[in-house]
Amino acid sequence: MASQTSDRLVIFGITGDLAKKMTLPSLYRLERRNMLHVPVVTVAFNDWTHDQLVAHARESIENEEGAIDEEVFTRLAQRLSYVHGDFKDPELYQNLKKELGDTNSACYYLEVPPGLFITVAQQLYNADMLHGEARIVFEKPFGTSYKTAVDMNKTLHGIMREDQIYRLDHYLGKEPVQDLLYLRFANTMFEPVWDNHYVACIMVTMAEDFGVADRGSFYDPVGTIRDVVQNHLLQVLALTTMEVPVHDIAAPRLDIFRAIPDVDPKNVVRGQYEGYKEVKGVKPDSATETFVALRMDINSMRWGGVPVFIRAGKNLPVKATEVVVRMKKIPPIYINGRLRVSEFHDDIVLRLGSDSGVSLAIRVKQPGGDHLEPVDLSVDFAKALGDAPEPYELLLTSAMEGDRSLFPDEATVEETWRIVQPIIDDPDQPQTYKPGTWGPQAAIDMTAEYGGWREPTV
Ligand code: BG6
Repeated sequence: MASQTSDRLVIFGITGDLAKKMTLPSLYRLERRNMLHVPVVTVAFNDWTHDQLVAHARESIENEEGAIDEEVFTRLAQRLSYVHGDFKDPELYQNLKKELGDTNSACYYLEVPPGLFITVAQQLYNADMLHGEARIVFEKPFGTSYKTAVDMNKTLHGIMREDQIYRLDHYLGKEPVQDLLYLRFANTMFEPVWDNHYVACIMVTMAEDFGVADRGSFYDPVGTIRDVVQNHLLQVLALTTMEVPVHDIAAPRLDIFRAIPDVDPKNVVRGQYEGYKEVKGVKPDSATETFVALRMDINSMRWGGVPVFIRAGKNLPVKATEVVVRMKKIPPIYINGRLRVSEFHDDIVLRLGSDSGVSLAIRVKQPGGDHLEPVDLSVDFAKALGDAPEPYELLLTSAMEGDRSLFPDEATVEETWRIVQPIIDDPDQPQTYKPGTWGPQAAIDMTAEYGGWREPTV
């Protein structure tokens, strides 16, 4: 079990977009919190000098953070070094090896196109750089289908141990996503009602109010199911529904996925926003979905009979990610001699986006009257608790510390691909929707029997 703390952080792909937007700013924030203690060796193709790397880091950090603390930035700059070359060329690895010096526990983070994952891993192995407690963090996506994920796992296991493999899903590094477990299990009021006796259905929404922008050539071969459902949203669902992880999160997480049958294509609505085919990098006759809504089931004692609805998409009315645990309606009852028939469900809403927090949508007596009115009891985590670390701060730190709890293991990744594989294999033509709407009408209707989707509260 790799548990020794890494003595080097090595980042492949430092000149890429993700490094600019996420990794470099996260390294800066870690430095500011005095949480970075190792040399950071960066690797890419361009023939850059150290000064060019530092200038790039400064620009990336300023873009995201605004004003920079010079003292913190100087410390980070001193930590950075740069090795360049072709990822397929063994010479690059010899140069990198020299730069790293004597190390037994380097943490290699691969934010490179997924087609290069195996190439880089194999080259590291050939150069004898994967021995001991060395580990590799693979950016998403890990595979493009069940079969490719299984093949990738097999190939990697030929050159390294499972405990050296960290499959990154940045949703697992989000504080409000981690909070799902704490909220559920650290409060007496939720756990007793968190099952099929009280819950009518679960709805997960991940809405983005922008299109694929300049990512057409990345997005078109991928689509919404592969981009965010197989990974982010299934992980969110697992944290919402799993049993308490007494020692280790891996087993209860896997149990949930094993209890979910393959999604039936009949229970899926795919959509594509108007204008998508004109995006640069998108095929003119593309049938890729930019929206999906689907229904799945969890065949367990706790959740049997409670449908799970997931919807995600680009160019929707708002940017929000949330889980709604919709409670069953109370039956018609008499209060003070008058029959009340509840029109509304009460919802527990777990907000996972930038407005992260929890709302309880409950019913109270209308003031001055006696009808029941819905109101929200709401907590905003940032206001109540202060700013949280960004996902990449947490994930890079966990990988360097050898804590694998935030990284899906081999079996988990394979199960999540297995669940969505039938809808990858059987894609029907997506229905067109207008940008700024909630997707095709069939997706809106999907939850009607359960009171309809809840509009995110943003
Ligand atoms: C990425 C997807 O994994 O997650 C993007 O590739 C998506 O398409 C992004 O926009 C959303 O992440 P977040 O953290 O902004 O919800």
